[in-house]
Amino acid sequence: ATGDAEAGEGVFKKCKACHSIVDGEGEVVVKGGRNGPNLYGLYTRVAGSDEDFAKKYGDSLVEAGENGLEWDEGNFVSYVADPRAFLREYNDDKKARSKMSFKLGDEEDAKNVWSYIVSVGPA
Ligand code: HEM
Repeated sequence: ATGDAEAGEGVFKKCKACHSIVDGEGEVVVKGGRNGPNLYGLYTRVAGSDEDFAKKYGDSLVEAGENGLEWDEGNFVSYVADPRAFLREYNDDKKARSKMSFKLGDEEDAKNVWSYIVSVGPA
């Protein structure tokens, strides 16, 4: 990860409205909302594959995972800038929808928050 994890912790405040970070033992690293999936270990995951969120994902994100989307810094930065536009392009589907309407357009903020998520996740 190329960002600044400490700065990213501040940016993550925007994500906390909907996302928590809970480790594999159930230990809460960041207490936030649960309207969005747990972001622990995002960089080890296929998109749309958090089992606890399985029933709540939108079809288009699950489809992206089935199409091979695994989170890395590059696709994460594009996704958070505009989740719906990202899914439309990735799935090559003009009608793709995102259940995340929040956008984080600032690329540096996005890289920093990615680094933060990596810094609190599994080694
Ligand atoms: C999904 C990141 C803010 C609601 C996701 C995913 C990521 C992400 C990477 C896909 C996770 C996966 O594949 O399991 C972020 C970051 C945020 C942020 C970094 C802050 C910068 C928010 C906010 C909300 C939200 C503020 C609610 C208002 C959701 C929902 C999904 C989601 C509902 C599921 C999307 C779907 O099924 O189509 N988010 N998010 N997120 N996020 Fe966020």
